[in-house]
Amino acid sequence: MPISIPEISPDASPTEILQAGIAAANGPVSLACSFSLEDVAIIDIATKNGLNLGVFALDTGRLNEETYEVADALTERYRLKIDWYFPRHEEVEQLEREKGLFSFRESLENRHECCHIRKVEPLSRALKELKGWVTGMRREQSVTRADLKAVEPDSANGGILKINPLISWTERQVMEYAKENNLPTNRLYQQGYRSIGCAPCTRAIGPWDQVREGRWWWENPEHKECGLHRR
Ligand code: ADX
Ligand code: SF4
Repeated sequence: MPISIPEISPDASPTEILQAGIAAANGPVSLACSFSLEDVAIIDIATKNGLNLGVFALDTGRLNEETYEVADALTERYRLKIDWYFPRHEEVEQLEREKGLFSFRESLENRHECCHIRKVEPLSRALKELKGWVTGMRREQSVTRADLKAVEPDSANGGILKINPLISWTERQVMEYAKENNLPTNRLYQQGYRSIGCAPCTRAIGPWDQVREGRWWWENPEHKECGLHRR
């Protein structure tokens, strides 16, 4: 039976959005965790409100050491069990043997190929058993996210629910929440990073740059998605 989409305002609180989304999914729901400030805030909110939310992470094999440190800190603080997903090793071996370690810099097609192998395919396995998934995406992050919905059907992944509880939060709100609640944070934020993905595809930026400027910095803004969030 198709899942019905709850009517929920993008300006509802993250807790309300999570509650409505989880209730509508009527089955297992997990947060896709990249260990960003946003994702850590969602774990904190879900824990404080006693919400039934799993956590999974896609280990692309190219993450920063600092990102793994956040994972470790979260495990300890929230007694969290993270469901890790890795890319299929045969595909990574073939990619690296045939195209080298930095093929993603050579063309958009190659970049999508690497993101597909390291993120999108593992995501499809992570979502198989779920009725809904939660992301830390926010509308103001980019042109590609301006029309996000608080809860929407994920047609790219079998129509399960996609829940975006921080959709209306600003970067400042996320930072304030992290500070007030003393959340574990990635040390790279102190070095000018404002959006953190894989190490070779992420760099520090200035305070006036667009927040995702440091992701795939050699590409145009409308291309800066890895395929996890096809709509
Ligand atoms: S993305 O292009 O890499 O997806 P971003 O880093 O802004 O963009 O992440 C947006 C959301 O996608 C995160 O809040 C998280 O829910 C999910 N996400 C991104 N990377 C991962 C990852 N490696 N593992 C699990 N979830 C991820
Ligand atoms: Fe590959 Fe870069 Fe995509 Fe990570 S972000 S999967 S290294 S292309």
